[in-house]
Amino acid sequence: MTRKLFVTTALPYANAAFHIGHIMEYIQADIWVRFQRMQRDGAAAREVHFVGADDTHGTPIMIAAEKEGITPQQFVANIAAGRAQYLDGFHIAFDNWYSTDSPENVDLSQSIYRKLRDTGLIVTKTVDRFFDPVKGMFLADRNIKGECPKCGAKNQYGDNCEVCGAAYQPTDLVNPFSVFTNATPVMKPSEQYFFKLSDPRCFEFLKSWLNTPGRLQPEMVNKVSEWLGEAGEKLADWDISRDAPYFGIPIPDAPGKFFYVWMDAPVGYLASLKNYCDKQGLDFDALLNDPATEQIHFIGKDIVSFHLLFWPAMLKFAGHPVIDKLKVNVHGFLTVNNEKMSKSRGTGISPLRYLDLGMNPEWLRYYIAFKLNSKVEDLDFNGDDFVARVNSDLIGKYVNIASRCAGFIAKRFDGKLASVLSEGAQSWINRALTVDVNGVIVERQASIAAHFENREFGKALREIMEIADITNQYVDENKPWILAKDADKTAELHDVCTTALILFRQLTILLSPVLPGVAKNVASFLNDAEFSWADTQVFGDAVSNSMLGRTIGAYSHLMTRMDAKMIEALFDAPQAAAAIAAPAPDAANDGAAPATTAAAIEELAPEIKIDDFLKVDLRIAKIVNCELVDGSDKLLRLTLDAGEGRLRNVFSGIRSAYQPEELIGKLTVLVANLAPRKMKFGISEGMVMAASAADEKANPGIYILNPWPGAEPGMRIR
Ligand code: 2FM
Ligand code: ZN
Repeated sequence: MTRKLFVTTALPYANAAFHIGHIMEYIQADIWVRFQRMQRDGAAAREVHFVGADDTHGTPIMIAAEKEGITPQQFVANIAAGRAQYLDGFHIAFDNWYSTDSPENVDLSQSIYRKLRDTGLIVTKTVDRFFDPVKGMFLADRNIKGECPKCGAKNQYGDNCEVCGAAYQPTDLVNPFSVFTNATPVMKPSEQYFFKLSDPRCFEFLKSWLNTPGRLQPEMVNKVSEWLGEAGEKLADWDISRDAPYFGIPIPDAPGKFFYVWMDAPVGYLASLKNYCDKQGLDFDALLNDPATEQIHFIGKDIVSFHLLFWPAMLKFAGHPVIDKLKVNVHGFLTVNNEKMSKSRGTGISPLRYLDLGMNPEWLRYYIAFKLNSKVEDLDFNGDDFVARVNSDLIGKYVNIASRCAGFIAKRFDGKLASVLSEGAQSWINRALTVDVNGVIVERQASIAAHFENREFGKALREIMEIADITNQYVDENKPWILAKDADKTAELHDVCTTALILFRQLTILLSPVLPGVAKNVASFLNDAEFSWADTQVFGDAVSNSMLGRTIGAYSHLMTRMDAKMIEALFDAPQAAAAIAAPAPDAANDGAAPATTAAAIEELAPEIKIDDFLKVDLRIAKIVNCELVDGSDKLLRLTLDAGEGRLRNVFSGIRSAYQPEELIGKLTVLVANLAPRKMKFGISEGMVMAASAADEKANPGIYILNPWPGAEPGMRIR
């Protein structure tokens, strides 16, 4: 029976570009998917559908769109348009990238909800919630700030204090205010819709579901069992509703109520699959009901409760077929030097910067794979280790084989491999590709395949590198560069180089899930069609036979060594800036307050040339008028005179910092050659410049620039 694999990763919020944690998860899933896709032949054949989507709903996205003066749909579309450069850049090959803001997701979420309601698992309760009377909107804890009830720190969120670490309720805050309007929140009753996770049916079901062999990693079974308690007494009902205004999916028969984003987000996996099936002419329902179908899901450890409590219970009691097919693989976080990544400590890694620096995406794929196992463990990125691992394994061991032998085949044998192999050569091939397990000779590819299947990528790569070690030992012992100097040794040279390239091809096939770009280039150099995992079978001499007498193409360089200097450039904060801003790690505990903390200053942008700077035309402009913008609590409308004989209309998100009348008559700095931007409220013809702290939470101030006396409208700033 052909396994049908529906593979998914957590859906990223559509309010920001991908960060390196997303890329790590996608690389993990992509390697697994590519391994499965290579099982094309006979009984092992697999059908694989790898889908993702943007997680679009919720208040933060609604507010971010409002801030930009665009609709949430436009906002989400802008984010979605930026996804491909990351995915393509790191060879991450989703079959479909979709959106939770889609008709499929509306239908599927509402249908799941209706079934839950019909089963008696939806209840309503009236609860008092915070409300912003100015914005006319209910507020989440994070939308409320005030003074910490414990230490008095100002500007702390409604759930905990970032200064002293105290956790509390928003009602405990002193002088609470809404982050949107600064208004004092009031309590207002609201009818909320709950999924009744406390129902004994949920406990009974989850307990057996979790313990189904192969469903979850053992440590996850333990963790979730703890959450369930002895008899489900720890399970509380889950509020799945939010009040308008909210960017989300309407709850059927409940005017003004929307699904909380976490209710419809996991349904997005199914929505993306449905969209993909419709595009491909596949039968979505048949696929989901097929006993051969499995959903293999990759997520981080921070979102386990949503995926291992609420989601399965909802699927089950909505009678959804995918519930029996779901297997969840949880990974840890990416750390840098065993610490949480931190921009201010200069340990943040930006995926785009990585690519912009010209760093090879397959280096990172290899390193991540090398460090991954099937456990819920954090994966530590260490720059020195990264350089050493890549240069030693990929360049020193793997690429080195081809670069030492391929040239001789081209120069001395017209690109043709030997038609027969010596016995000695064949026995080296067998030695490299098989291993003696308690007296039984077994193929290494089988255990490598098992490691890929079980997401033990590190183990797979270690075994592959053992093959590379044996191959290099063979080349070192036979020294083709010496054989090449002796005309009598031509046949031997042919034998050795052919053997080395046969093994190089095997290594490439085994590495293909991790290094798809290299594998493609090698396939073309060796005149191979797309590699299949069946090409790794050793017994029956299939490995050698397919290569003997073959004419191959010219070898061109496959991968360069990594320069350690790249690592310095990779991390967010340049050394100098980090040194000024951050106390040395040891000094941080000596009780002396640093003059400025690391978190206080934003990382420097990458270095530019003067020509880059001069592309930005900055002018002095006079604010001849300034007014509030109807419908926006973020923007002010500025009318500017930049000495051009006309006035410009510019919207600026500085409403929280200035009253219009404070600004009228003042000079400021205008980015004058910025393309006009159509906003909800009109066209903005430029941008005024303002300073803000890196940590807007701690220091939410916005400070507009104001030139020294003497500057005049129209003067250029350079
Ligand atoms: O934590 C997150 O980034 C969520 N956007 C993950 C959602 S996964 C699924 F539910 F869509
Ligand atoms: Zn505090």
